Amino acid sequence: MQINKIYNDDCLNVLNDKNKIEDNSIQLIFADPPYNLSGNGLKLVGNKTGGDYFMVNEEWDKMSFEEYKDFTNKWIKACKRILKENGSIFICCSYHNIGECTMGLKENGFKINNIITWQKTNAMPNLTRRVLTHSTEFIIWAVKGKNWIFNYEILKELNPERTKDGRKKQLRDVWQIPLCQGKERLKDENGKALHPTQKPEELLKRIILGFSNEGDIVFDPFAGSGTTPYVAKKYNRKFIAIEKEKNIIRLF
Ligand SMILES: C[S@@+](CC[C@H](N)C(=O)[O-])C[C@H]1O[C@@H](n2cnc3c(N)ncnc32)[C@H](O)[C@@H]1O
Repeated sequence: MQINKIYNDDCLNVLNDKNKIEDNSIQLIFADPPYNLSGNGLKLVGNKTGGDYFMVNEEWDKMSFEEYKDFTNKWIKACKRILKENGSIFICCSYHNIGECTMGLKENGFKINNIITWQKTNAMPNLTRRVLTHSTEFIIWAVKGKNWIFNYEILKELNPERTKDGRKKQLRDVWQIPLCQGKERLKDENGKALHPTQKPEELLKRIILGFSNEGDIVFDPFAGSGTTPYVAKKYNRKFIAIEKEKNIIRLF
């Protein structure tokens, strides 16, 4: 099995190949799958987070309800095979797909420990003016067995909140983190955001430092621009990642 490798392939091909990823070998999985929400191309010109904003409208993000349920179940099942007994899986989702993700986890025998609410402090305005502005996504934390890694003190340190007298506080399940913006936002040669759903480094930092240790293998089946392997390497973890589209994985 090759470590520190990013496969350019469909995640199911790699996940189901025991030579590429062995049973019970991965400490931490961060999965940011397609949310199955693409539909139209509403856009907002000149916003602050990365230039013009295009609603996610990608071929990889368009499946029927049945196809999506089946796909979600398959990749979660395959993740169970590769996860260590004390490993953790984190799945990003929104109100669009949280049902399919929690069902997939339950059907495959995972235990859900927390659902983290990511409050996006710089969320896009709602253009229709007919519903509340969406400013949250969710990250489901689930485990395969007992004795999962939970670096309590590190997570306290990473919590930006302090008590009134300046002491560290336990990290709660609501995380206020801005959408990826400024220098962190990767751009292509035309200045357009390289990836429509690049996740902020801060989000990965909390998950990687809080739920794995140095030298552990972190796995991402939907690497996109490569945020997970990038942050894993930065904090001395090993990584394996998969992304099926060419030309969107950052070079590092
Ligand atoms: C929500 S994005 C991930 C973004 C990533 N977390 C980042 O920070 O850039 C989902 C990614 O999964 C990829 N993808 C979709 N279906 C896939 C599949 N079956 N196998 C591997 N990658 C897939 C898409 O090309 C897309 O880049």
